[in-house]
Amino acid sequence: ETVEWSPEETGKGEYEHFMRKEIDAQPEALRGTLAGRVDGDDVDLDTLPDGTFEEIDHVHLVACGTSYHAALAASRQLVRAGLPATAYRASEYHDLQPVDESTLVVAVTQSGETADTLSALRRAHEADARTVAVTNVVGSTVSREADDTLYIRAGPEIGVAATKTFTSQVVALSLLTHRVASDSAAATVREDAAEFLAALEALPEAVEDLLATTEARSVSDAHIGRDAHFFIGRDFEYPVALEGALKFKEITYEHAEGFASGELKHGPLALVTPETTLYALLTGDRGEETLKNAEEAKARGVNVVAVAPEGMAVGGVADEVLRVPDTHPDVVGLLANVQLQLVSYYTAHGLGRSIDKPRNLAKSVTVE
Ligand code: G6P
Repeated sequence: ETVEWSPEETGKGEYEHFMRKEIDAQPEALRGTLAGRVDGDDVDLDTLPDGTFEEIDHVHLVACGTSYHAALAASRQLVRAGLPATAYRASEYHDLQPVDESTLVVAVTQSGETADTLSALRRAHEADARTVAVTNVVGSTVSREADDTLYIRAGPEIGVAATKTFTSQVVALSLLTHRVASDSAAATVREDAAEFLAALEALPEAVEDLLATTEARSVSDAHIGRDAHFFIGRDFEYPVALEGALKFKEITYEHAEGFASGELKHGPLALVTPETTLYALLTGDRGEETLKNAEEAKARGVNVVAVAPEGMAVGGVADEVLRVPDTHPDVVGLLANVQLQLVSYYTAHGLGRSIDKPRNLAKSVTVE
């Protein structure tokens, strides 16, 4: 791979903020991630040929921040393929699990320079694990240190808050999951691989359709200034809820938390008042269950924003709805995430925040 980032890609163009530009660039970023890598019901990753992962029988993913949420999403896919898989916050990877040649350790890092992630990778390497870097930056430290690298090919991301690279990471990790599941004797490729991969290939267009909608701005106007913003989801929508809350706190400086839908009643409900907003992720196979959890919170006075597939009836529960185009249930959460990116952006804009360079945060954290 070579570095081909042009001035058009690294400038702001007609946009007020890089973040908004990068949200809009997701279809293009995804086309980059997918180019030449899907072939019917199979995946072709040039740097990781068939058979690369024959010896692997379990997987650890290590990452920080937004990349951790992508890793958490991937761990669920790997588990469904029959492989024990755990996503670790890289700073918490110390001495947790024994690793050996049958362990695949995947370092997920946009920049390829995050100190905690590199240090987790080094420990795994020393213990003889098989290592793969999933990164955006060609020639980055992680790509030099891992056994193999899978580039996400999302193009440069300037805004401190990660947007397009999260989407591309999840898609790249989905392709990696397919490769590992095909190779490893311990795993099985999903039965609906053809449909799942077709949904990934159709994702750039689905994101374009979503970006043509306008509800996110009015939702943000309706809830700006509330005491707290909570995000709930289950299954694949759980990492999306965590990511929605992280984005929101990073750029709005408002109190935001993400929860597993089922955990709401085990504590967080105590925080709920008529001054809080709950973003309920109702996409995916288990959206109806989350709708019930949102209903329980609604009964305690919370304001509900439903992020829901077309056609789902949410009238009695939701104060506002952000609709998401229909696609495969394991892919649709990425579209829900784009709606949440837009809500965070408009809220931060309305509050006059420093969107591209939030206070106290850095794009790449190179100290442990
Ligand atoms: C910093 C950035 C986050 C990013 C995290 C991990 O905290 O502000 O946006 O998700 O680092 O970065 P990486 O480059 O490893 O994905």
